[in-house]
Amino acid sequence: MRKQIAVLASGGGSNLQSIVQHLASLGTGSPADVVLVASDRPDAGALQRGRGHGMHVVAMDREQRTSGMLALLARHAVDLVVLAGYLRFVPVEVTRSYRGRLVNIHPALLPAFGGTGMYGHHVHEAVLARGARVSGATVHFVDEEYDHGPIIAQWPVPVFAHDTASTLAHRVLEVEHALYPRVIQQLAEGVISLGADGHVHGAPAHLAPSYFALRPDPGAAVEGIRAVLG
Ligand code: GAR
Repeated sequence: MRKQIAVLASGGGSNLQSIVQHLASLGTGSPADVVLVASDRPDAGALQRGRGHGMHVVAMDREQRTSGMLALLARHAVDLVVLAGYLRFVPVEVTRSYRGRLVNIHPALLPAFGGTGMYGHHVHEAVLARGARVSGATVHFVDEEYDHGPIIAQWPVPVFAHDTASTLAHRVLEVEHALYPRVIQQLAEGVISLGADGHVHGAPAHLAPSYFALRPDPGAAVEGIRAVLG
């Protein structure tokens, strides 16, 4: 049975787009479909994209993004919840019910540059302000704390002296678009899972800094991720 995915997003939805395209590229072999796109912002680009793909879209009111979120997900028979630039706190009853089935992508190498207030360009500004030479993307299971749950996959990108928050964001985003859809695929296939012991099982050992990752051209990172995750 194909898994049903809900994507929660507050922004433009480029990660949503990459997930939808990747699953579509798998054709009948896809293990999952995005059935619901929900946002806390009625004007979020992600909702437009979801509409464009003929998905159910919901601009959540306060109730739907708090006490009503679990019911919303149940109504759409959601198996897997994917946060893609979702900037609100996910209610505890959702993180508990979807333990091991709720993931997030963060545009830095957690646990550095994570936590409250660390989202979007704030993350990249903080990376530059600290003079970090390496940033990257992290995919992790979501628990009750911001940017805290078990890490599934990370991929580094170099930070250059001439970078601005926006050039760095762009470089990291290219990696996000290659990494997140493939991790989601493997989660939906049951290859990657969260064990009762709190450890991530099945994540490829090579999902770690590598030769590919620190070559400056983003194409090399994408090539490296594909070599590991298919
Ligand atoms: C992405 O860079 C994602 O990692 C980040 O927001 C952006 C959303 O872009 N998420 C966070 O900062 C969460 N802490 P998108 O709307 O184009 O997918």
